[in-house]
Amino acid sequence: MEEKRSVKLALLGLGTVGGGVYKLLERQKEELLDKAGASLELVKILVHNIKKERAGVDASLLTDKWEEIIEDPQIEIVIEVMGGIEPARTMILEALNAGKNVVTANKDLVAEYGRELLDAAQKNQVDFLFEAAVAGGIPIIRPLKQCLASNEIDEVIGIVNGTTNYILTKMFEEGMDFEEALAKATELGYAEADPTADIEGLDAGRKVAIMASIAFHSRVTFSDVYTEGITKISAKDIGYAKEFDSVIKLLGVAHNTEWGIEVAVHPMIIAQDHPLASVRDSFNAIFLHGDAVDDVMFYGRGAGELPTASAIMGDVIDVARDIRYQCTGRISCTCYRDTLVKEFKDVKNKFFLRMQVDNKPGVLAAIASVFGVHKVSISKVIQKVITDGVAELVIVTEAVKEYHMEDAIEHLKDMDTTREISSVIREY
Ligand code: NAP
Ligand code: HSE
Repeated sequence: MEEKRSVKLALLGLGTVGGGVYKLLERQKEELLDKAGASLELVKILVHNIKKERAGVDASLLTDKWEEIIEDPQIEIVIEVMGGIEPARTMILEALNAGKNVVTANKDLVAEYGRELLDAAQKNQVDFLFEAAVAGGIPIIRPLKQCLASNEIDEVIGIVNGTTNYILTKMFEEGMDFEEALAKATELGYAEADPTADIEGLDAGRKVAIMASIAFHSRVTFSDVYTEGITKISAKDIGYAKEFDSVIKLLGVAHNTEWGIEVAVHPMIIAQDHPLASVRDSFNAIFLHGDAVDDVMFYGRGAGELPTASAIMGDVIDVARDIRYQCTGRISCTCYRDTLVKEFKDVKNKFFLRMQVDNKPGVLAAIASVFGVHKVSISKVIQKVITDGVAELVIVTEAVKEYHMEDAIEHLKDMDTTREISSVIREY
């Protein structure tokens, strides 16, 4: 075993997460020698705007020249926290091909180019770790790859976007409408200036693709994930969820079935007594089932400066240990299967459907027969008269294939007695 006393690091990006990594490196300076078996020395920080004022940061470390990092043979770990696909992808590939280990928080990149990056790491016998890319500070990648490695995992479901969980919590508990709750989430810094990726389920979709790949040992990319956001959830829907002793959550759902992998992100009505129903505000949680371990849940902060930096630094310490024991590249790609990802139209779900219809004899019977024609079995019907002429119908179905439900909805829309299909939400 080689006695390593110092490992040199470069940081790509000094924004929210990069700033957190910088702080933890300072805070843990003395401890790291014992924890990692080597002192960790930050020698370069790549930024976009070198002129920006950065309080508390050693300005001599800053650079806007990638060559100063990639061409320095002493830098053994590159921490990528810039975000986006390019130039992050090219820089990471160049770093791996130069024999440097890489730690990243970049879910966009891992969800799309994970295979390419892991292959490059394997070829060069270096570590490529990305614990922070899924659910920020919550350990989930390492537990899946290591602690739970002997399990056959058949289900991973998670609340993996803090912004949308905060919005839904405020709508449920304080009666806020969507716009008001989104404004509050933006004010608190949870939502991005452009919140599309959060509220449309794209951010969660990327995280679920990464988790499904690792849990089921078969590559799932972001393009395989059906995504639907929370913008259509209304106070009325929340009211019905309460009536059903349930809540509405944006869930990432992945199943490994006999017929292939099912993977999606969409709002779901979930019973109050499910552990995920109690995950409030901007917290995240991942619930999974393995054949040996049974049910497991991971809960915590899914984003933010220090929680995300905590996951990054866990990876960095692991790499430093691997460098010390000369075993980098020990745990690389774990996708040794090639399982089909099912088309979403073939996935089965239970549905909650709320619609406005003419309030007259025979309407309910006609609607029931449409469901029958399209092989949709009904489990519950609630009718509330809104005005003399209009009734609000809520229909909850048994589990049915997505395309049967879609056909039934199209058929219902064509009926003269249908005023509006107000909402369609899946039920867990
Ligand atoms: P951020 O605050 O926008 O910071 C990005 C940093 O990268 C900035 O310092 C910026 O430089 C630098 N940068 C961007 N493009 C660059 C380029 N082409 N060349 C050099 N430097 C460049 O982003 P963040 O919130 O820290 O997120 C970073 C990564 O972590 C993303 O992949 C994100 O998805 C992931 N992540 C974030 C969170 C979170 O809570 N924020 C949680 C989990 C994962 P300047 O400072 O000069 O502008
Ligand atoms: N925008 C994300 C969230 C955090 O709200 O959870 C970064 O993954």
